[in-house]
Amino acid sequence: MKAKNELAIFGGSKSITSPVVEAWKKIDHNVKSAVCRLMDAGISTIPVGGGVIGEFEAAFASMTSSRYALAMNSGTSTLHSAYVSVGVGPGTEVIVPAYTWHATVTPVLHCAATPIFCDIDPRTLTISPEEIERKISPRTRAICVVHVWGNVCDMGAILRIADRHHLPVIEDCSHAHGASWQGRKVGSMGAVGCFSCQGPKAVSGGELGVVVTNDPDLYDKMVLLGHFGRKKIGSSKAILSVGDMSLGAKYRAHAWAVAMANEDLKRLPELNSKRGKNYQILCDGLRECPGLELIDTLPGVERGGYLEFKFKLSPEALKIATRERIVEAMHAEGIPLVADRYSDRNYTYGLLHAAPLFTTFDLKSIGGCFFNPEDSHAAHPIVHLPISEDITGRLVGMEAYVEVDTAVMANMAAGIRKVMERVEFL
Ligand SMILES: Cc1ncc(COP(=O)(O)O)c(C=O)c1O
Repeated sequence: MKAKNELAIFGGSKSITSPVVEAWKKIDHNVKSAVCRLMDAGISTIPVGGGVIGEFEAAFASMTSSRYALAMNSGTSTLHSAYVSVGVGPGTEVIVPAYTWHATVTPVLHCAATPIFCDIDPRTLTISPEEIERKISPRTRAICVVHVWGNVCDMGAILRIADRHHLPVIEDCSHAHGASWQGRKVGSMGAVGCFSCQGPKAVSGGELGVVVTNDPDLYDKMVLLGHFGRKKIGSSKAILSVGDMSLGAKYRAHAWAVAMANEDLKRLPELNSKRGKNYQILCDGLRECPGLELIDTLPGVERGGYLEFKFKLSPEALKIATRERIVEAMHAEGIPLVADRYSDRNYTYGLLHAAPLFTTFDLKSIGGCFFNPEDSHAAHPIVHLPISEDITGRLVGMEAYVEVDTAVMANMAAGIRKVMERVEFL
């Protein structure tokens, strides 16, 4: 018999008695020394001959088995550059998932194009290939997929659809550094792979991004947009005639940020393996846990990056207690589980596909190049995406732990199970 007073929220003993501490320090001695070496050498911008930036780009290209990598100042600028490079412009559409960080989508507006939001696969939280195909129109210029929380999209189906419709795929790999599908690294399967290397990302320079591509002409267009002083390498005479000038978006990366990210990149396989083991301990402990569902990994997928560990609360559990109440009970147990931050309740603007910026906001009102002069309507209709709307309200998660005692990880799983087995008392 499960009893109410076993729960810590009602005075029972806590599952985790001291705060869960991440022993791994993102900014460690190696990161500090790498940055200090540049400071001591008086280097703060792109070094002659590429230096640390060239090293990072070569290592990143190699990690993703891509021909070219180009470091940028943010993941957002990598996405803008990628969209521009494949010809996203006024009057075109880009297919995007509704469940992602808004920076996947906002650069579409910089191209005066329209984001077309797609629903997700409820098993994996990644964009649904069937939805992509349903939403392709004569205006579609690109498909953007996001390997959300380090879980790789259904790339087999997505690449087949893209092939059939002759559309480029942009991979937003900001959560998934080092993840792969059938041995192919994320970023290398589409036309351009975009990575944020910001803050808590698996490869981080504080504020940084990097793109990878195998196509020298796409590379050149991205250089042209934002990288004064970089050599162009493709076959377009028009672009080569520009020399080393750029259009002035100034998307160049900071050398110190790159030095930081270089250190993470060296340790990426080790850090991914540690995150993977911790995630596995949680999943093993939560298999068939009442009221909680695991996020599926598709066959052939090796997760990477992670960013956060996610779980779904079941609709049945949420008929008995709210997500907020369940999270409160978890905290009482000492478990740092929180409501998913991409969910409606954590944003002022609701879910992405209903956010004012992408629906009711009049882009013409701010001037600039954000709107297609031929568009008769200022706003875009709100679409209904039942799976995203249902699932995101049910998600909970925690940070993707690297170095936490395995016993603590197992106790967290046991504590989550303890709460979920007693939801009726909440
Ligand atoms: C999925 C996704 N895409 C794009 C970005 C934008 O990256 P940045 O913050 O480096 O511009 C982020 C940042 O968190 C992200 O999570």
